[in-house]
Amino acid sequence: ALPQQVKIVEVGPRDGLQNEKETIPAEIKIALVDRLTAAGFANIEAASFVSPKWVPQMATSAEVMAGIARKPGVIYSVLTPNMKGFEAALAAGADEVVIFSSASEAFAQKNINCSIAESIARFAEVAAAAKLNNIRLRGSISCAFGCPYQGEVAPASVADVVKRLRDLGCDEIDIADTIGVGTALQVQHVMQLVAQDFPIASLSGHFHDTYGQALANIYASLEVGISIFHSSVAGLGGCPYAKGATGNVATEDVLFLLQGLGIQTGINLDAVVDAGQFISTHLGRKAVSRAGNALAAK
Ligand code: HMG
Ligand code: MG
Repeated sequence: ALPQQVKIVEVGPRDGLQNEKETIPAEIKIALVDRLTAAGFANIEAASFVSPKWVPQMATSAEVMAGIARKPGVIYSVLTPNMKGFEAALAAGADEVVIFSSASEAFAQKNINCSIAESIARFAEVAAAAKLNNIRLRGSISCAFGCPYQGEVAPASVADVVKRLRDLGCDEIDIADTIGVGTALQVQHVMQLVAQDFPIASLSGHFHDTYGQALANIYASLEVGISIFHSSVAGLGGCPYAKGATGNVATEDVLFLLQGLGIQTGINLDAVVDAGQFISTHLGRKAVSRAGNALAAK
C-alpha cells in the first residue's frame, strides 16, 4: 500500500531561484515564501547561506529570512555548506540547516570545491553546532542517480554517503537526482538499498525533471515507502553546477498526482497554483507546471 500521508518540502525559493540570472528583489522572495506558508506547507526551503561569489542570487538570504511571516510549526530550512553558513543560519533563526554533499566525487568538487570526505569533515562541525543549538539537521546527496561530470554513479556510493550523514546525526536525508536522469526501477533499487541504513520515514526524494521522469520516480518511490518529496512551485529551478539541469518537479503536478491517489499533504493546491503564477509573472515566463497552467487557465 502507498503511504497515506506525504510531506512535501517546497524548495522553490532556494533550489528554484538560485540559478536565476537577474537578481530577484528580496521582497519578491519574501512574498513567495509567505504565499507558500499560506498554502499550507509544513517545510519550506527558504534560502541558502553559501558564498555569494558562487551563487549570487542567494546573497539576499538574510533579508529574506528576516522578512518572511513565519507560521508556528512550519520548518524554514536553509543550506549551510560550512560554519560561516551555519552562523548566518543561526542568526537568521533557521529551523533546519541542510548540509549537502554528493554521491559523485566529480560533482562535489564542482559544487562545493572539495572531496566528499572533506565535505563530511567540514559538516561534522556544522552538525555538532546544529545539535548544540537544537536546530534540525538535514543531509542532501546530489547525483544519486547520475552525474553530469562522471556519468554513472554506483548505488553503493549513495549508500556510503547516507551512512556518513547518518553518523553525523542527520534527522532527514535527501536522495537527489540533480540532473533528472534516474528512472523508476533504478530509483526503487537505490531507495530500498539506502533504507537499509537509514529510517525510510526520514528519507526523501528530490527529483529534477530534466528528462521528464520525476513524477514516475515519485510514484516508484511511493511504492517502496518513501513519504517525503521535494518540489518547486511552478517547476522553478536548475543547479548552477549542473549544466543543462532544469527545475525540480513542479509542486502543482506532484499535488495533483497525490490528490488523485487520495494521499494527504495538508496543502491547498489552488493556493500553490496562485503562488506559481505570481512568481512566473515576476520572472516574465510561463510556469513550468502542466497542472499549474491547466488549473490557472480554468
Ligand atoms: P571555497 O571558495 O572553497 O571556500 O568555497 P572558502 O572557504 O575558501 O571561501 C571563499 C570565499 O567565500 C571567502 O570570501 C569566504 O568568506 C566566502 P573571500 O575571503 O574570498 O571574500 N564564503 C562564504 N560566504 C558566505 N557564506 C558562506 C561562505 N563560505 C565561504 N557560507 C563553498 C566553498 C562551499 C563556500 C562554495 O563552494 C559554495 O558556497 N558553494 C555553494 C554551492 C551551491 O550553493 N550550490 C547550489 C546548492 S546545492 C544544490 O542545488 C543541490 C541540491 O538541490 C540537491 C540536488 O538537486 O542535487 C541541494
Ligand atoms: Mg536540487
